[in-house]
Amino acid sequence: MEIVNTVEKLIDIAVRERAAGKTIGMVPTMGALHEGHISLIRRAHEENDVVFCSIFVNPVQFNNAEDLAKYPRTLEADVQLIGDLADYVFAPTVEEVFPVAPTEVYDFGTVANVMEGAARPGHFNGVGVIVRRLLEWVRPHKAYFGEKDYQQIAVIREMCTQCRIFAEIVPCPIVREPNGLAMSSRNRRLSVHEFETSANIHRILEESKQFDNVQEIKRFVETEIAKIPEFQLDYFELADAQTLLTADTLDNPHGVMGFITVYVGPVRLIDNVKYR
Ligand code: PAJ
Repeated sequence: MEIVNTVEKLIDIAVRERAAGKTIGMVPTMGALHEGHISLIRRAHEENDVVFCSIFVNPVQFNNAEDLAKYPRTLEADVQLIGDLADYVFAPTVEEVFPVAPTEVYDFGTVANVMEGAARPGHFNGVGVIVRRLLEWVRPHKAYFGEKDYQQIAVIREMCTQCRIFAEIVPCPIVREPNGLAMSSRNRRLSVHEFETSANIHRILEESKQFDNVQEIKRFVETEIAKIPEFQLDYFELADAQTLLTADTLDNPHGVMGFITVYVGPVRLIDNVKYR
């Protein structure tokens, strides 16, 4: 595996690999890698001739300065973990990616305005800014994203439609800790006790599948979350799995998902569940 630090070199390599007839897979990340990220990289490795992984803590998608400052940066360990699953790791500086502050303003419509979009103004615009650049530089055949950030996938699909980017967007299942907590780089900021308690998020979502209407599911999840003193519910929403519009019935041709965001102390955890 080769580490690439400049955009110019990244484009050169990608053009050369494409011209040699190789299929290219790409996995964008912000580093502090765990098994969730590795599952994406492994899948890209299985399905493509050449794999690019990017490690870049993208400042323009953070709407909270403390979250950006505290975001773990562990490049050496990340590179070790990737090993030979990727051929190239793109690890640029902020100045390399943004020689001047980006000014693009997108309108990705509903999928970017509800839930995480409403809770974190500017976040999805910043995701669009960086993912567009990465996909245009590398021009992968396939790009891999985790369903933990389900809404992010919908936003990236919309960005690709608007910007005429033809990479196939491949959604990958959520990888969990043995206790059920969705793996996240932010889990490192939890105490041992908070880590154990946070397993209740997944447990409660799974148990909520026993109900067969939206009102009962909402009442159950809100009540159960409120019973855990360490939890502060940000939102729990049931939404159409495709449009992400609020669902008031489980009978929906696209399927219905539950989306939750919980604060455990200062750490914001997200998860989701598929009902139908
Ligand atoms: P990051 O949070 O580092 O996540 C990189 C990719 O790993 C995302 O597609 C995310 O959904 C996926 N991922 C994270 N935890 C996962 C888990 N437990 N199971 C499966 N997949 C998981 O998401 C971002 O970075 C950024 O927004 C990015 C797309 C890189 C743009 O900056």
